[in-house]
Amino acid sequence: FAFTPENRAWAEAQITKYPEGRQASAIIPLLWRAQEQEGWLSRPAIEHVADMLGMAHIRALEVATFYFMFQLSPVGSVAHVQVCGTLSCMICGAEDLVAVCKERIAPEAHMLSADGKFSWEEVECLGACANAPMAQIGKDYYEDLTAERLAWLLDEMAAGRVPAPGPQNGRYASEPASGLT
Ligand code: FES
Repeated sequence: FAFTPENRAWAEAQITKYPEGRQASAIIPLLWRAQEQEGWLSRPAIEHVADMLGMAHIRALEVATFYFMFQLSPVGSVAHVQVCGTLSCMICGAEDLVAVCKERIAPEAHMLSADGKFSWEEVECLGACANAPMAQIGKDYYEDLTAERLAWLLDEMAAGRVPAPGPQNGRYASEPASGLT
């Protein structure tokens, strides 16, 4: 792995934002850029970033493995589905969403679907508990999901369409319930 010339120039510009001796502070944006370039974050990409920052490879790997936003195996060409499996979502039906992922994408997390379009994993709370259950698909949040709605979303995306993100049942948690105003 090596950054493209454009990405390398961008990465070097990020590094200059930090004081001498603190270059490692640029690790998250550089890892993110590497993932954007490659589609996922391979071990050579992590080591390339570590080398640019003068860090031990293991230190960069520690950061890359800590955050769900970094994918350490190839992801679907259309989308990677991250189903929240924490308390609120679990109570409201996250297991049904995981079942859809197992049936429609792959039986195990981090496996590619047969057509290579999708992958999935269960993650911890994504901070949208009020609209549980929810999943992050690609970079967007899809909330107030049902198994049927998630299956429909996957069909739409497989066909090249991008359904509107946000609550899938039409409600918005920020709107006060009627009768409370
Ligand atoms: Fe699922 Fe918080 S518990 S978003």
